Amino acid sequence: MSAAPQSRAADVPAAPDDVNALDEKLWPAGADRDEHGVLRVGGIPATELRDRFGTPLYLLDEDDVRAHARRTLAAFRSAAAAHGVQARVYYAGKAFLSTEVVRWVTEEGLAVDVCTGGELAIALAAGADPSRLGFHGNNKSVAELERAVEIGIGSIVIDSLIELERLAAIVERRDAQQAVLIRVNSGVHAETHDFLATAHEDQKFGFTLEDAPAAVARIREIDGLVFVGLHCHIGSQIFGSAGFRESAARVVELHAALLAGGDIPVLNLGGGFGIAYRPEDDPTPIEELATGIADAVAQECAVRGIPVPNLAFEPGRAIVGQAGVTLYEVGTTKPVQVDETLTRLYVSVDGGMSDNARPALYGARYSARIASRTSDADPALVRVVGKHCESGDIVVDAEHLPGDIAPGDLVAVPATGAYCFSLSSNYNYVPRPPVVALRGGEARVIVRGETVEDLLARDAGLTPTPTEGKVRMPVLSERSESK
Ligand SMILES: Cc1ncc(COP(=O)(O)O)c(C=O)c1O
Repeated sequence: MSAAPQSRAADVPAAPDDVNALDEKLWPAGADRDEHGVLRVGGIPATELRDRFGTPLYLLDEDDVRAHARRTLAAFRSAAAAHGVQARVYYAGKAFLSTEVVRWVTEEGLAVDVCTGGELAIALAAGADPSRLGFHGNNKSVAELERAVEIGIGSIVIDSLIELERLAAIVERRDAQQAVLIRVNSGVHAETHDFLATAHEDQKFGFTLEDAPAAVARIREIDGLVFVGLHCHIGSQIFGSAGFRESAARVVELHAALLAGGDIPVLNLGGGFGIAYRPEDDPTPIEELATGIADAVAQECAVRGIPVPNLAFEPGRAIVGQAGVTLYEVGTTKPVQVDETLTRLYVSVDGGMSDNARPALYGARYSARIASRTSDADPALVRVVGKHCESGDIVVDAEHLPGDIAPGDLVAVPATGAYCFSLSSNYNYVPRPPVVALRGGEARVIVRGETVEDLLARDAGLTPTPTEGKVRMPVLSERSESK
């Protein structure tokens, strides 16, 4: 168990005018309340979803995912077209990957980026065209690289010299041709809403700008590897275009220098486009970001008198983040006197850091609303916490909810579509919730929830009984005999 988190009385947000209101920049489009005040997502009341699927429950609004995919693709395509080039948009599968989501985004025209063999398997199982997949990661195994080459993956982003040689051996043995990029760290990295530019990066991803030319030269020596461009990703949940522009300037300089060794058709500038998690968050619209980045690249190219390359991007959160809502049931409430002036109501829900690790991992701050009703009660400052054995098991650090919130009420947390399901765990043997997709007034499970049987299934201390096929606990004497 961890120590209790610091009291953050100073961070308390102002109480909203209406604690029942749904801020449209946080919720999937069309989320509203029915005539009884019950939250509806995708047209379906939260109480009905609870009755059918239980809680905690991940909800994903399919139309919202598709709309964000279309809007993002259009934004980058038109920003690139303004400079006479094309843009390819990869959906960054790490944000949320399931076969259904792969189908939605590919139907909307996106390519997909994966970063492990597992993610690759999901994308392939969904029927994604291998030539429209990109493969990242700082430690891809020989087996993962082998599989990627075998299926004819569109591109592999090389992250180190060791990986370069691993891949070289594979393409030589298979007599294959593989398009590759190299990941460079531009020295620009995002600090959430801000960015820092440093000369030397102290992190695990990619090549430094200084080391990259030697890596590219080595790639160009290998018959089976085709160098198609540089790749750079400066971080996540970035609100403005300044960091991207600074990074683009540095990377274009390298791109220009490398043109002496041959054509370089692509420049991949990664993902990281921020979304609103709280009402005070104000991310730059994707159209503005896209234009800012494409203009910066074009300007840097013009300065150097080189052609603008085709552009590639990898948004994850911007596609699925706002489309997701997590539904919880309140189990207990407990007022805590923080100081003379501040009382905080702890509201414990039936999930927590196992279904949303981001607050514990990054100090991420979310918003919440009562979902099963509205209330005229005065707002109370609440901290929504989970059921895990960690004081840092916080779902929503500071929020105002109606002061009469009570056990049995439903609480909904918006903007949980990205990096919640994908970072989920079985901590404390809490089964992972199902994911339910909503579309056209219909709800359907797209990832089944775990059961206690799933939790027990991997425990090798249990043996199936031959007759019933059920698990049973071996008695102590059996255990000692088998030693
Ligand atoms: C290489 C790369 N591309 C894309 C992304 C997606 O970032 P986001 O979901 O913030 O757009 C990530 C996230 O970590 C990443 O590492």
